Amino acid sequence: MNAPIGVFDSGIGGLSALPALRAALPHEHLLYWADSAHAPYGEKGDDFVRLRSLAITEHLVKVHGIKALVVACNTATAATIAALRSTYPQLPIVGLEPALKPAAQLTRTGRVGVMATQGTVSSEKFQRLLQSLEGQADFVVQPCPGLALAIENSAHPATQVQANQVVHELLQRFSQAMGRFGTQPGEIDTLVLGCTHYVFVQDDLQRIVGADVRCLSTGEPVAQQTRRLLESAGTLRTSADGAAQTQLLTNGDLAGLQGTAQRWLHLGADHCALANAAV
Ligand code: DGL
Repeated sequence: MNAPIGVFDSGIGGLSALPALRAALPHEHLLYWADSAHAPYGEKGDDFVRLRSLAITEHLVKVHGIKALVVACNTATAATIAALRSTYPQLPIVGLEPALKPAAQLTRTGRVGVMATQGTVSSEKFQRLLQSLEGQADFVVQPCPGLALAIENSAHPATQVQANQVVHELLQRFSQAMGRFGTQPGEIDTLVLGCTHYVFVQDDLQRIVGADVRCLSTGEPVAQQTRRLLESAGTLRTSADGAAQTQLLTNGDLAGLQGTAQRWLHLGADHCALANAAV
């Protein structure tokens, strides 16, 4: 089936899941929507995020005819995945949630750090996930207000230098607030990146918390789940269907999207375009 898979996030964050999606789905058309004009979602409340998610999905379904949707945003998944699934019962929809379950399996010290947006950590969905893992690990949950926005700003040529400094300061402040990192008893040895934006600053974070600390994100399992859903729907494209396309749209700064696409995905500027601002 030639229709694209729609992928969206509040901004550039969900692009961090694109390499895993592309690897698992080499023949699919991918259509990414960066809602950068409305970023960040994490501090705007559930109603706002739900309205944005429904508006974007409606547009992707009606105008672009997507055959599946990946909500490449932990905050939007927490606030809105149930509403999306009940509005589009026929559409395969995959959401992202912070990798607490794998972290509980992998930790050796039993202490796991979780960085996510305020919206994610205060959501019912996240609290249920945390409760379901009670006794399996000691989770240190850190909301990170301002971090996704600073990362978003660091993609824009005009604000890049200052935003990188803000990102670094916030990473230092939030990691200090979580306590000691390392592999000794009582230290945090596993860190969940519970927001797709944070994957882009993993190198900086790793320098702060130490190379021994394992950082976990969710692109890979989400890509596998998307593939499984398309397989069971019988809508997977094959090499015989022709070359796969990747199109990235933003309602924010085009140069910022182009820079991110070039730097992280090795995609040229011709893959990027402005989205319909009326959505
Ligand atoms: N990248 C998103 C997430 O995974 C949202 C960040 C934000 O807009 O606050 O949570």
